Amino acid sequence: MPKLYSQITGWGKYAPANIVTNYDLEETLDTSHEWIMQRTGIAERHIATENESTATMAVAATHDALAQAGITAQDLDLIIVATSSPDYHVPAVSSTVQAMLGADCPAFTLVTGCTGFVYGLVTAHQFIVNGAFKQVLVVGVELVSRFLDWLDRNTCVLFGDGAGAVIVAPSETPQGVLGFDLGSNGADGHHLMMEGGGSSFPMSYEVIDQGKNFLRMNGREVFKFATRVLPKSTLAALANSDLAVDDLDLLIPHQANARIIDMAVRSMKFDRDKVFVNLHKYGNTSAASIPIALVEAIEEGRLATGDIVALVSFGAGLTWASAIVQWGPTRAR
Ligand code: COA
Repeated sequence: MPKLYSQITGWGKYAPANIVTNYDLEETLDTSHEWIMQRTGIAERHIATENESTATMAVAATHDALAQAGITAQDLDLIIVATSSPDYHVPAVSSTVQAMLGADCPAFTLVTGCTGFVYGLVTAHQFIVNGAFKQVLVVGVELVSRFLDWLDRNTCVLFGDGAGAVIVAPSETPQGVLGFDLGSNGADGHHLMMEGGGSSFPMSYEVIDQGKNFLRMNGREVFKFATRVLPKSTLAALANSDLAVDDLDLLIPHQANARIIDMAVRSMKFDRDKVFVNLHKYGNTSAASIPIALVEAIEEGRLATGDIVALVSFGAGLTWASAIVQWGPTRAR
């Protein structure tokens, strides 16, 4: 069998039409547009309405990805849905997505917080390069707004909802995922967590009274972790791909905070013009942040054939995940 590479052949994104600006948040919270912009770079975020769910957003993004790849849902061999905000604990939202798409293939959900999409892409890469599957759907989707305490200004201003999807397929030309870096430091997991609703604190009136059903964060600790790990993981993934910073044409970091991105880019001495940022429009969409940014970068003509792009994420766990991708022709040949 010839050596196989894993190529991204299709992509799509979805963001709810409903937009909540910082000015809207000023109405209900002790905060200001200036504070949020200055500390995070976020101006607005998309928030799902009642008729939307994690599964419907994933499916909407997938339809575009399938069309771009020139395949149908029946052609899919595997579905990986990365999310920490599924429709239900059980069944896995990946199976709901599989049924809604009308696909006939295995499906699983991957839960690593904001790094889920890159973990999923690297997992898809394994199935492709070992020849097990030919068409793998990877979705990063988050409906985090339903898990936020909208009275907690430390967290609710930061996040937004959305979905991004890619199709990964085999190619015999060296391109697609060239290398990666994955990591986890669970000892610091308490800095970003939702305590309630799992087996430690099953949902109860007490859990709700204590507000444990919401996402909580130690912003300063997460900030320190993120500024440290973003350059470190970028460099590790580049080294794993036998490349250096100078080889990078585009860096797509997890869209959490503009200050985190700026500090990390400065510490790598990387050209800020080669960094893609769209968090002002979306906030932190967690597992959806990298695929939404990737799709927008493509739409804005920021990626040409042969370009080397780094997808670099960090988040709950605490985890990190980076992949180096060589951008190829849009269809696998
Ligand atoms: N509006 C106004 N004031 C706010 C606020 C808001 N939305 N959120 C927090 N504050 C207040 C704090 O209560 C604090 O007030 P105090 O000094 O009276 O206690 C003050 O602003 C400064 O808080 P601090 O935590 O020092 O601010 P910061 O500069 O560290 O910024 C974050 C806070 C959350 C923006 C920042 O820590 C951050 O971005 N962390 C990483 C978060 C992240 O990206 N998480 C997801 C990772 S996947």
